[in-house]
Amino acid sequence: MIVAIDGPAGSGKSTVAHAIAGRCGLTFLDTGAMYRSVTLLCLRAGVDVSDAKAVASVEKDCSILFGSSASGQTVIVNGEDVTDQIRTPEVDRNVSAVSAVPAVRAALVDRQRQIAGSGDVVAEGRDIGTVVFPDAEVKVFLTADAKARAHRRAVQREGGDAARDASAAADAAQEARILEDLRRRDQLDSTRKESPLRPADDAVVIDSSDLTLEQVIQRVVDLMEAARAKA
Ligand code: DC
Repeated sequence: MIVAIDGPAGSGKSTVAHAIAGRCGLTFLDTGAMYRSVTLLCLRAGVDVSDAKAVASVEKDCSILFGSSASGQTVIVNGEDVTDQIRTPEVDRNVSAVSAVPAVRAALVDRQRQIAGSGDVVAEGRDIGTVVFPDAEVKVFLTADAKARAHRRAVQREGGDAARDASAAADAAQEARILEDLRRRDQLDSTRKESPLRPADDAVVIDSSDLTLEQVIQRVVDLMEAARAKA
């Protein structure tokens, strides 16, 4: 079974997909981590992220593997654990440009299909239901109000568990900066020419603004059960 979870930044896709993978025994595929990895390498090498050719060659030469540690999934790029380095504000600011490069998208989509192989996978990103796995049995478009998403990210950055504690406090200035960045990224990701962020025609849209993590997970599990019953 393939479960595709798409949606804008901060909608909770990773948390939900990770939980589904653990509970239902599926492989977790975080495709955003792959675009982030290429972005990190570009920044380190001083490659201008608007230079499509140079960015594509960085992608071509790198290895991206997923591993696991006690605290969750790890991302290993060229043999180095970059799990934390790919989540910095600098990577946030530059990843949309990298993910708009058609050659990078084509190559990473190939890698994503290879990782999935013929196994059971829950993949999350922006184009999973529309491009990567158009035949996925379950397609979810997870969204939430921009302010709710910015708040969750701010709580996470401060080390809190935003998924479980929506009322946790976060630094207001930091939250405002995150909100601005999310809006900018939403705009870039949904208006780009190549595979823009949009729900697949057959995706179920779940707005998580007023739902708990548990409620969202349950909805996805229900969709998986319905898909299994249909097969
Ligand atoms: O999910 P995320 O925030 O880690 O994703 C980082 C960026 O990568 C996001 O701004 C858009 C891009 N992305 C994409 O274009 N396609 C995907 N399947 C996943 C992420």
